[in-house]
Amino acid sequence: MKLLFINGVNLNMTGIREKDVYGSHTLDEINCEIVNHFADDECEFYQSNNEGDICTAIQCAEHFDGIILNAGAYTHYSYAIRDAIASIKTPVVEVHMSNVHSREDFRKTSVISEVCKGVICGFGKNSYILAGESFKL
Ligand code: DQA
Repeated sequence: MKLLFINGVNLNMTGIREKDVYGSHTLDEINCEIVNHFADDECEFYQSNNEGDICTAIQCAEHFDGIILNAGAYTHYSYAIRDAIASIKTPVVEVHMSNVHSREDFRKTSVISEVCKGVICGFGKNSYILAGESFKL
């Protein structure tokens, strides 16, 4: 199975910023763990702080079986990313490391959930693995 893990804005700061919320593992360490977990699958990783580049990555992902997307704060207001997800056939699972529903009100709104296959949040770095596993069910 070919899986694409996309991380959006500020996720490159994982392991450095707000460790009490997002944990102390860097994005590279998390990605290594994902590669080890999905040893029989092909995993690709993309991170960008730029909304348009994330849209382009989504548009170019038709050949993947699934996309695991943590769009970061773009989740809450990016209609561009929402439209990019809606424009492709590849299913997308929305992911958050933190439980966005137990935090500030603005995080309770996602403009991308409606066009995603499902949503996983609140399991720290394991949210990515749970989302990847969902494509195998
Ligand atoms: C996040 C939650 C978002 O609200 C926040 O802006 C992030 C990370 C998460 O993984 O919990 O940058 O997507």
